[in-house]
Amino acid sequence: MEDHPRFRDAKLGIIVSSLRALQLFLRKNVKTGRLPDYVVVEGPLAGGHLGFGMDWAQYDLRTIVNEIHQYLRDEKLDIPVIPAGGIFTGSDATSYLEEGAAAVQVATRFTVSKECGLPRDVQQEYFKAGENDIEVNGTSPTGYPMRMLKNSPSTGSGIRPGCESYGYLLDANGRCDYIEAYNREVAAHPNEKKIAVYDKTCLCTHMRNFKCWTCGHYTYRLKDTSRKLADGSYQVLSAEHVFKDYQFSTGNKIALPE
Ligand SMILES: Cc1cc2nc3c(=O)[nH]c(=O)nc-3n(C[C@H](O)[C@H](O)[C@H](O)COP(=O)(O)O)c2cc1C
Repeated sequence: MEDHPRFRDAKLGIIVSSLRALQLFLRKNVKTGRLPDYVVVEGPLAGGHLGFGMDWAQYDLRTIVNEIHQYLRDEKLDIPVIPAGGIFTGSDATSYLEEGAAAVQVATRFTVSKECGLPRDVQQEYFKAGENDIEVNGTSPTGYPMRMLKNSPSTGSGIRPGCESYGYLLDANGRCDYIEAYNREVAAHPNEKKIAVYDKTCLCTHMRNFKCWTCGHYTYRLKDTSRKLADGSYQVLSAEHVFKDYQFSTGNKIALPE
């Protein structure tokens, strides 16, 4: 990338989940003479893949953000810091901004907005989810723990790996944990038409088809951000409504839609 004529035009940010990861990146990055333009600090309550082990619950976003602020101050590095993961209300966001964050990155609140690409019936699953319906599991073939709804149709699905049909990439060595899990189950049940694979998921195919319902930890609070309609479903929100709620809500209150 360094040789590209526009290398210095584009903004480059990185996502880290620890001070150590940031330090490693900066050390490796020294020879390009170009610092990241911003750093997203993603904590253990974020959606989808986590930059932590299965011991994610022992970590806390605010502590990591403070460590990173301190380090950048000590090193006299002026890089905007953007916390992410579990920032659910305007008050949450303000508290980070007051502590020196340049912005916040949020996602979960927007999963139930009209503009989100998730199908409407899937959005209802996000609204309905309780705390116990959300899990961090090891089914991603990337090897990173992943947070998702337990009732995702991807769980236990034994579909044929989609790499060839969809032209997806395998890892650098041409392998994928799902293919290995799938082949193991096929070999163990040679006479069965349909097999189930529980330990790994065909992430590429299921993400593409909206069948792997990754979500943030606070998905179980989404029901409190909307109202129930006469048919028992939750009202889908506009992105503008969610955005304004972040901007103008105070005291951790959430404004319900009109
Ligand atoms: C449904 C969903 C899918 C996500 N997918 C990705 C992704 O593909 N890559 C990524 O870097 N982060 C992904 N994230 C993480 C967000 O970028 C973000 O940092 C984090 O979820 C913010 O926390 P919040 O969801 O509690 O607001 C995803 C989050 C959600 C909710």
